[in-house]
Amino acid sequence: MISRTMQDALNLQINMEQYSAQLYLAMGAHCDALGFKGFAHWLRIQAGEETAHALKLMDFLLDRRGKVELGKIAAPPQSFGGVIQVFEQTLLHEEGITHKINSLFALSRTELDYASEIALQWYVTEQVEEEANVGQIVDQLRAIGDQGGGIWYLDSRMGKRTARTA
Ligand code: FEO
Repeated sequence: MISRTMQDALNLQINMEQYSAQLYLAMGAHCDALGFKGFAHWLRIQAGEETAHALKLMDFLLDRRGKVELGKIAAPPQSFGGVIQVFEQTLLHEEGITHKINSLFALSRTELDYASEIALQWYVTEQVEEEANVGQIVDQLRAIGDQGGGIWYLDSRMGKRTARTA
């Protein structure tokens, strides 16, 4: 059975992953409204991955005979600026998530909760990938700027992202 402290912290992270999904759905709708269907598609797939992150934590809590306590999901901002700003905000958000995952990992160690520590390793690794992927998009957007043909080429490439199967 999982400790109350660890359970509460994991429930907060479930909420944060759901907020991430909410944020990326809003960003995707924003990109779509700007005419960038490819960036919108990429963000919608990202939202699906965030929901999967929440479900994975939920299943872990249930396996540990913990109580899943779902809270209210905060509303995302309504405006994000241009596409470069959207992905700069995405990178900032992912850096914040990495900080939260690291804090959870540290908590699992102080709680001597080895099962949580092992489960959280997956999230530590995932955050390296998340930051690398989004960081690369930010670099590319900054290099080509948000005017001209380059951004439309990048938009069409972003539109080819497929959902992860595992
Ligand atoms: Fe669930 Fe994008 O981290």
